Amino acid sequence: MHGEVFQPNKDFAKNARVKSMDEYRALVAEADADYEGFWAKRADEKIAWIAPYTKVLDESSAPFYKWFVDGKLNVSNQCIDRHLADKGDKTAILFEGDRGDVEKITYNELSQRVNKFANLLKNRFGVTKGDRVVLYLPMIPEAAYAMLACARIGAIHSIVFGGFSSEALRDRIEDASAKLVITADGAYRKGKPYLLKPAVDKALENDIACVEAVLVIQRNKEDVTWKEGRDYSYNELIKDESDVCDFEVMDSEDPLFLLYTSGSTGKPKGVQHSTAGYILWAQMTMEWVFDVQGDDVFWCTADIGWITGHTYIVYGPLAAGTTTLMFEGVPTYPDAGRAWKMVQDHKVTQFYTAPTAIRVLHKMGENEPEKYDLSSLKVLGTVGEPIDPPAWMWYHQVVGNGKCPIVDTWWQTETGGHMISPLPGATPIKPACATFALPGIIAEVIESDGTPKKIGETGLLCITKPWPSMIRNIWGDSERFKKAYFGDAKKDGKPVYFSGDGAVIDKDGYITITGRVDDVINVSGHRMGTAEIEAAVKEDEHVAEVAVVGRPHDIKGESIFIYIVMKEGKVNDDIKSHINQVLSSEIGNIAKADDIVAVPGLPKTRSGKIMRRILRSIAKGEEITQDISTLEDPDVVSKIKEAVKNS
Ligand code: PRX
Repeated sequence: MHGEVFQPNKDFAKNARVKSMDEYRALVAEADADYEGFWAKRADEKIAWIAPYTKVLDESSAPFYKWFVDGKLNVSNQCIDRHLADKGDKTAILFEGDRGDVEKITYNELSQRVNKFANLLKNRFGVTKGDRVVLYLPMIPEAAYAMLACARIGAIHSIVFGGFSSEALRDRIEDASAKLVITADGAYRKGKPYLLKPAVDKALENDIACVEAVLVIQRNKEDVTWKEGRDYSYNELIKDESDVCDFEVMDSEDPLFLLYTSGSTGKPKGVQHSTAGYILWAQMTMEWVFDVQGDDVFWCTADIGWITGHTYIVYGPLAAGTTTLMFEGVPTYPDAGRAWKMVQDHKVTQFYTAPTAIRVLHKMGENEPEKYDLSSLKVLGTVGEPIDPPAWMWYHQVVGNGKCPIVDTWWQTETGGHMISPLPGATPIKPACATFALPGIIAEVIESDGTPKKIGETGLLCITKPWPSMIRNIWGDSERFKKAYFGDAKKDGKPVYFSGDGAVIDKDGYITITGRVDDVINVSGHRMGTAEIEAAVKEDEHVAEVAVVGRPHDIKGESIFIYIVMKEGKVNDDIKSHINQVLSSEIGNIAKADDIVAVPGLPKTRSGKIMRRILRSIAKGEEITQDISTLEDPDVVSKIKEAVKNS
């Protein structure tokens, strides 16, 4: 397989939006020749403007770029209203519950429900333009209604993934000064009800001044406690609302949402996205990368708590007027055939998931896909972490029957939408390679000072021109925004965006992502900062010092490996399980560690900096190649190795 290149499927290419590499290159050339003109053309074609913009790109306060200056629009109009004339009866959201219950919500119904929801927010809770609303919700259609209702009235939603703990939720509510929290009693997973509301109760235990009310959606009808005067039932209140709510006229640059993500230092940061630029790119990438057309049924398996769920379950598919499948459960329940049965039952045309899920499904059911009719599939996608060639091959051969292109999409919370990806009708694909930057996106692999790397050399993956769906700011922390993403390197006098990933470009110009170059780890496609995990571990009274690194893992991609220096005594199972309890309550179950090893000390430089590279190498079982003579205590390295060996 090494070196094999997979040509686009000719039948697919005939009807694709971008049919060949020549067409791809023509688009790239168009953007090269007139960057602003390229974007203006798309914005004019795709966006239902209420008032036109006066300037395409304002770079005067770089890196605080502004796109489509003075333009007026509304994202819920873009995703719903403008489709009603010709697609009112088309299914917008196709929902399948964990227990197999199916609901089809047409664009007309979506419109009514979002309008009612918007009225409820406005009339009952006084939510107005610019207010922040935190959503802590399961994967149910009401989550999409809530997002679109916020967009309709100009409120800024901030979704917190349901797997995050009450502590993590509390931090995010406070950082955003949210006025309202929308949650559910719970939902279903693996055939059983689970609860979400108690985590909200706990987060708000010592009243957070900003939160005026909690709106609770009923999903599983489990008993939950109720705080009079704070908690309100969505199901009761929504009945009285009218299904007509005029949308707020929003500026191109008004924030659409915040989404917290981990960085290499400090607390998670509220990534702020804009209105026009974000929705334009969400829609364009649905069209280019997934090539959705006609009656396609698009299924992205992410959770709405992550950027993938925002852009490719809700905003992108609906802006593109397609049918989006939303799933409450897990693809392995009741068995490894669940996902494939759903593809068959709903005639899914594009299937988009994470490498971790592919590896699990592969491991659990090598031949399972063959039991189902998967002939509806046209495009397969992957996102969130590097995919390994064996998983790629199984996905291609067994799931896609050798005929579906795999779009390995590289992007981030901060980029809003895909940046580097094959185009399914055009790009000859090298397995496990994100291939080329999309037209209009200028990706380069450079050194920190901006010098381009040579072919075959790994360097820093940067986006060297602003693009419409880029992060606009970190909520409440402009300085951190500049520091975290824009280094010293400049292009045309303007700072360039640093992704935090490494990449390498081959002789054919193909870009392969090599993984994070900072202290961020990626566990099952969930991004976590080692600093955040370390801060939580320090809460354990036995721990004197801690260092966290990622270790390669067969299924999860990376797992959490924790080195601790004990205050006294030896580490035992009780302490290990306590540390994991602390992680789960401070961050969430996704932060649980696979390895916790007590060591006599950490490898530090004389200035006290922990050499994580050494710790990473030891966790991986690699030889130490770096110079350890500069360490304060070089002997500690062999002691750590010994401790890991005996753990
Ligand atoms: O390291 C890259 C990895 O996921 C990071 C972004 O994580 P997050 O903001 O949570 O967004 C995930 C979904 C877009 C990146 O910095 N990543 C994302 N896509 C890929 C990837 N690594 C390799 N290949 C990809 N296709």
